[in-house]
Amino acid sequence: MAKGDPLLILKNLKAYYPSKKGLVRAVDDVSLEVREGECVGILGESGSGKSSMALAIMGLFERVARFSAGASNDPELRRAFEKGLPGSKDMPGVGGSVIFRGKDMSTLSQEELVAIRGRELSLIPQGLGHALNPQHSIGHQTAEPLVVHEENIRLLTLKRKVLEYLGLVQLADANLRFVMDPGSFSGGESQRILIAMALIAGPYMVIADEPTSALDVTVQAQIMNVLRMVRDEFDVSLLLISHDAGVVAEMADRVAIMYAGKIVEFASAVAAFHEPQHPYTMGLMSSFPTIAMMQMRAGKKPRLRGIPGDPPDLCNIPKGCAFHPRCQYTIDICKEEIPEYREVKPDHFIRCHRYGDIVQE
Ligand SMILES: Nc1ncnc2c1ncn2[C@@H]1O[C@H](COP(=O)(O)OP(=O)(O)OP(=O)(O)O)[C@@H](O)[C@H]1O
Ligand code: SF4
Ligand SMILES: [Mg+2]
Repeated sequence: MAKGDPLLILKNLKAYYPSKKGLVRAVDDVSLEVREGECVGILGESGSGKSSMALAIMGLFERVARFSAGASNDPELRRAFEKGLPGSKDMPGVGGSVIFRGKDMSTLSQEELVAIRGRELSLIPQGLGHALNPQHSIGHQTAEPLVVHEENIRLLTLKRKVLEYLGLVQLADANLRFVMDPGSFSGGESQRILIAMALIAGPYMVIADEPTSALDVTVQAQIMNVLRMVRDEFDVSLLLISHDAGVVAEMADRVAIMYAGKIVEFASAVAAFHEPQHPYTMGLMSSFPTIAMMQMRAGKKPRLRGIPGDPPDLCNIPKGCAFHPRCQYTIDICKEEIPEYREVKPDHFIRCHRYGDIVQE
């Protein structure tokens, strides 16, 4: 595959959880493409479905959703995967397709998926708390993706590789500390270790889910440096998930904006940050001071206004365009029909009935 070829293609991806309140439509009809060598940012408010999308891409969504349903001890939720939830014709689980390097992931066996995960496609999960196993040394855990995929790897080679990758992410004193367990490392150091784990087997693509959000500001800047190094020096595509527009603006070539489980705009970073076309993107960008500064530097008049109201409950998404109760441009059709996701210019996708007809004040 050459730089620019499609590496990951999502087609009408859906990922629904069962819950006591009904079906949670966490990812709903998402279509997206990540190309060889690029960084695509996924930006959206908390609860818009970003992590669920990452889990669905990794082939882990069903397992997590079933685990939560099982843990709830509610027999109806446990049965929901086989019989559905009362009052809903849609089933929990994953629908649509995830095509990675030309392979439809839904047609692969568990063994084939395990062979891909970690080696070809890896995830830096959200939330440092549960990501590292407190029972094993960080050296052991960093080595794991290699051990899983290369059974006969020699111990010395393994140690050399672990130290090489912990060094690349600039973990201080890695050669002395790789035998320690995760409890001995700070949040920023744990994030460095997770990045090393995601890279060690040489994947084609890394999904980083909120890699800076659990950290304080100075540590965030250090992790951003590591991610920039990954983007610039590794031959890897990145899907960078964040609710912080500043993080995405610094890294991404293209940006997808997610609202209530759907992508509402997908465009080059320049277009998304400087000339957003979807009313939600306009509002979202206007709520970030860092983006306002960026727009000012580009000679534009920033509008710091934000978006009134709250995102919807994903068990009870408003009819028509999910954004209509908060949108200042709503017309009748917005309350009735879900807008189509369409390519309005080359590489610029929008989900809005009024594209081309909105004049920003
Ligand atoms: N295991 C689960 N069972 C049921 N519902 C879930 C589960 N995990 C997440 N959800 C719901 O799915 C929706 C999307 O959640 P998700 O974690 O994907 O959003 P997010 O965009 O990653 O949010 P954040 O920015 O806070 O990480 C939310 O309504 C959330 O409550
Ligand atoms: S479809 Fe209508 S409600 Fe939705 S964003 Fe566009 S103008 Fe606003
Ligand atoms: Mg998340």
